[in-house]
Amino acid sequence: MSNIFVVDHPLIQHKLSILRNKETTVKEFRELVGEISALMFYEASRNLPTQDIDVETPLAIAHCKQLAGKKLAIVPILRAGLGMVDTIVSLLPSAKIGHIGLYRDPETHKPVEYFCKLPDDIGNRRVFVVDPMLATGGSAIAALDALKSHGCRHITMMNILGCPEGVAAVQAAHPDVDLYLACIDEKLNEHAYILPGLGDAGDRIFGTK
Ligand code: PRP
Ligand code: URA
Repeated sequence: MSNIFVVDHPLIQHKLSILRNKETTVKEFRELVGEISALMFYEASRNLPTQDIDVETPLAIAHCKQLAGKKLAIVPILRAGLGMVDTIVSLLPSAKIGHIGLYRDPETHKPVEYFCKLPDDIGNRRVFVVDPMLATGGSAIAALDALKSHGCRHITMMNILGCPEGVAAVQAAHPDVDLYLACIDEKLNEHAYILPGLGDAGDRIFGTK
């Protein structure tokens, strides 16, 4: 079974309540997606390996820890996942970035892949996949399938909002992947949108509707 982590810190809950509001502007929405992503990443990165290092302070030697290896990659699912990248990369400036482009067919709600560009050595990297929404789970599963076909073995998925259907689908298809969410909402509507949700994340980030 994958591990499901709901990162329900008060700061995240507060920001999520503003994110959901239909009156929130595109500018505010973008900023909030970035802020929530950074706060969630703090928790999602908790188990990154460290190595011991001695540092000379002006007064003495301090026994410290630094991130070991640093072979990390952030992979947003386009479009909406792009909104989560910048603040995470600001915490991990040496991470590589891959892109997987998927859109949901409006009739079938199944993902259609239109772009995939990953770092050459992605199979040797620990990967964080980011996308604000986990609805049916189809897009997440397709992205995880693509990453595994490139040799990735250590993958964490980060979604701001999910629902029981999407979480169950990802768990069933990819039981080895850890899932971090800010909230698991109630259900999907007949158009496979999350209820109560926040609407269409891509449209709200990019102002396309
Ligand atoms: C949204 C969202 C996820 C997907 C989730 O993207 O960002 O990628 O839907 O739905 P699922 O779990 O049912 O697959 P969308 O297809 O609307 O594309 P966009 O990001 O380009 O707007
Ligand atoms: N994609 C979104 O952007 N929102 C949803 O509620 C479901 C899929």
